[in-house]
Amino acid sequence: MYGLFRAPFLLYIIIRYSPFKIICFKERSKLMSDTLNEYQGKATMEKITSLAKRRGFVFQSSEIYGGQSGAWDYGPLGIELKNRIAGAWWKEMTQLNDDIVGLDAAILMHPRTWEASGHVENFTDPLVDCKKCKSRFRADQIPEEKLSSKKCPDCDGELTDTRKFNLMFKTNIGPAEDTSSVIYLRPETAQGIYVNYKNIVQSNRMKIPFGIAQIGKAFRNEIVTKNFIFRTCEFEQMEMQYFVKGGTDEEWFNTWRKRRWAYYEKLGVSMDHLRWHQHGPGELAHYAKEAWDIEYLFPMGWRELEGVHNRTDYDLGRHTEYSGKDLQYIDQETNERYVPYIIETSAGLTRNLLMILCDAYDEEQVADKGSDDDWRTVLRFHPVLAPITVAVLPLMKKDGLAELAQDIRKELKEDFSTDYDQSGAIGRRYRRQDEVGTPFCVTVDYQSKEDGTVTLRYRDSMEQIRISRTELVQRLRTDIKEYKRIK
Ligand code: GAP
Repeated sequence: MYGLFRAPFLLYIIIRYSPFKIICFKERSKLMSDTLNEYQGKATMEKITSLAKRRGFVFQSSEIYGGQSGAWDYGPLGIELKNRIAGAWWKEMTQLNDDIVGLDAAILMHPRTWEASGHVENFTDPLVDCKKCKSRFRADQIPEEKLSSKKCPDCDGELTDTRKFNLMFKTNIGPAEDTSSVIYLRPETAQGIYVNYKNIVQSNRMKIPFGIAQIGKAFRNEIVTKNFIFRTCEFEQMEMQYFVKGGTDEEWFNTWRKRRWAYYEKLGVSMDHLRWHQHGPGELAHYAKEAWDIEYLFPMGWRELEGVHNRTDYDLGRHTEYSGKDLQYIDQETNERYVPYIIETSAGLTRNLLMILCDAYDEEQVADKGSDDDWRTVLRFHPVLAPITVAVLPLMKKDGLAELAQDIRKELKEDFSTDYDQSGAIGRRYRRQDEVGTPFCVTVDYQSKEDGTVTLRYRDSMEQIRISRTELVQRLRTDIKEYKRIK
């Protein structure tokens, strides 16, 4: 009987002090410092994808059927995060700017829209296929020597000639499947704004300069979808079109570049992971006179996050031509008539979500006992973006602590998004909340019953303070407002 109790103890001693384990731990530390050297945020796409699935942020679409490439589903925490990112952008654009109003246009638009916009003719990628391994590539993304020698970059098999591939999804509306019923899923939200510009000027008495903001789905038949949710066939955009008088466009273009940069700074994004990239003549979209991308240093390298474009009077000019409608703006004071120029800020909402996940991801050593518990994974979300703002944790389930904690949670619910967790050791519960980026935890213990105080624990510093439950709401509001990322 004694032996039965002794065996687990001996096993513990062997594992605890085994040199093998120490090597593993050292290896792990080395691996982590290697990753750290490679990528400052310590996030790799594998880690982000795995955490996103494990904790209910993002799932592969139709996973039980083997998955649908280019499409992803947002789970309980993912949709909260996405809504908060969208909410922060919407507030920035509409609430904080008197001259910008919102719109939610339909995804299905008259097919002439896409002829006018130039998408039917120009929205193409150059495509090549490998005749041997059947892989498909964007011709502009494979090494020049492979393309010119027509050799597959994967297997050296023969490549087909380059052909143009239109990225718009085509379908049919109504029962007949002929050319007269062809309709497209919109590849950008922008056109919904342009075709409504006159409606909005008239109904809302907008005066130039003014903007229209929209968040919504867009669809592109991307040839290569990889890197998790970075490039997908179905995604969401947050676009704002600012209508100005020709001649003032360059000034407004620079203003909007500055504003968009400042926005990411305000959100607490690591600014050394952001940079500008100006489009050269070969990169410019068919509608743009000038274009600058804000790029983010993702784990796979610098990639476009958002574009700021000077679209000139191209779009409204083309819609005038194709619709036959007069889309000139009439200045009521001077009676001047002109087709406005458009400055566009175009950000991917789902790509922003990936950026926010990568930017928040951190692994931190919090102890030195030689065990896995020495490390915590933490998502350092800005509290306005965190899917859960505050978690309430009773120290014990018994002695009325659970009921008291539920009562406190009920009070907090009115102001914040909350979670409640009573299972497992308190340290483990803190780690679970760290891993999903909950900035505040409130712990209810025996002293709470005596004097009405609770422990408020901060995710980033892990500092704990004792505070009266009556002061909690105000304290959290102040902490959110004054939040500064410490790492
Ligand atoms: N209206 C202009 C426009 O659509 P874009 O550069 O093609 O410009 C704007 O797209 C933003 O939309 C990109 O910066 C990116 O964040 C996002 N985006 C574009 N294609 C995407 C895709 N296939 N998957 C996810 N996000 C995408």
